[in-house]
Amino acid sequence: QSMATITAMGTYVPDRILSNADLEKLVDTSDEWIVQRTGMRERRIAADDQFVSDLATKAVKDMMRRYNVSVEDVDMILVATSTPEYSFPSTASRVQANLKIPNTGVLDLNAACAGFTYGLQLADSLVTSGMYRKVLVIGAETLSKITDYTDRTTCVLFGDGAGAFLVERATGKGDFMAAISGTSGEGGIHLYKSGLSSEMNGVPLQGEGCLVQNGREIYKWAVRTIPEQLSKLIAKAEMKPEQIDWFVPHSANLRMIEAVCERGPIPLERTLTSVEYRGNTSAASIPLALQLAVDEGKLKNGHQVALFGFGGGLTYAGLVLRW
Ligand code: ACO
Repeated sequence: QSMATITAMGTYVPDRILSNADLEKLVDTSDEWIVQRTGMRERRIAADDQFVSDLATKAVKDMMRRYNVSVEDVDMILVATSTPEYSFPSTASRVQANLKIPNTGVLDLNAACAGFTYGLQLADSLVTSGMYRKVLVIGAETLSKITDYTDRTTCVLFGDGAGAFLVERATGKGDFMAAISGTSGEGGIHLYKSGLSSEMNGVPLQGEGCLVQNGREIYKWAVRTIPEQLSKLIAKAEMKPEQIDWFVPHSANLRMIEAVCERGPIPLERTLTSVEYRGNTSAASIPLALQLAVDEGKLKNGHQVALFGFGGGLTYAGLVLRW
């Protein structure tokens, strides 16, 4: 039986900062409202000529620098994104071209803010099945390019960024301990960006190519769903909540994460986010939170972490890992 281990991680965020003060100049909002409702102070925004494959490639280069690993023998590149620069070719194939990886499969996966944790689940299964030895998993987003900066209910939330993990066949014990996923497809209408169709279940879509969300409904769904599913995930790993060193939910919104922690098995003090200075970066938010925690010395080798992505679909995917 093959096992899978995470051997390297890297991230990238663009240089341009969008602060709450900047947003006050764009829409009728205030630093106080944004901090109180979301916990956000800043977000990073891609340059006009910078697209998601550029961010993804930079995250992989950061990973190669930090961990002194090479990617030339990667068997598969999985990119989770909801903001690809083209419908096709995939973002993963742009990353392949940028990094000149000679013999690799490429695949994008679209599970909105749950994309990165779905990607890790797939990488684990591709490696533990014996099919592949080395899989690159990337979560990357340029949400600024689909954000309507005249809509104060969404434009304060989103930011851009990317994170990359290398998942490899392990010689000893594996790092992946349990996984869970689930979907409420009927809630899809609460968070979308329209594509070829202009309606969903007979309901006309809005937004003209920008992200549309019913924040209240997402909030209710997340707070109802995540605490219960997180408890199930921890039980599936045959662990007690006290054995989880860190809970890393998708950094959608700090106030919502607080509500999840109040109802769930793990308190806010054992939670890692990237929300304060990165905003909601969708598929990139979990690796960005992990990178910040490593850099701050909070997250250490051997720690047991529960990652939990959730968002558009509506869908969620969680996993328990040994760091
Ligand atoms: N500044 C000032 N006032 C605002 C702003 C703003 N930026 N946005 C909304 N308001 C106003 C509203 O107009 C409303 O005013 P009214 O009472 O006069 O009508 C009031 O604030 C309250 O609005 P609500 O929408 O009820 O505010 P709420 O407390 O629900 O907070 C928020 C909104 C932060 C969006 C919240 O609903 C939330 O966090 N939802 C979850 C969103 C989320 O996490 N989405 C995940 C996306 S994941 C993905 O896949 C991309």
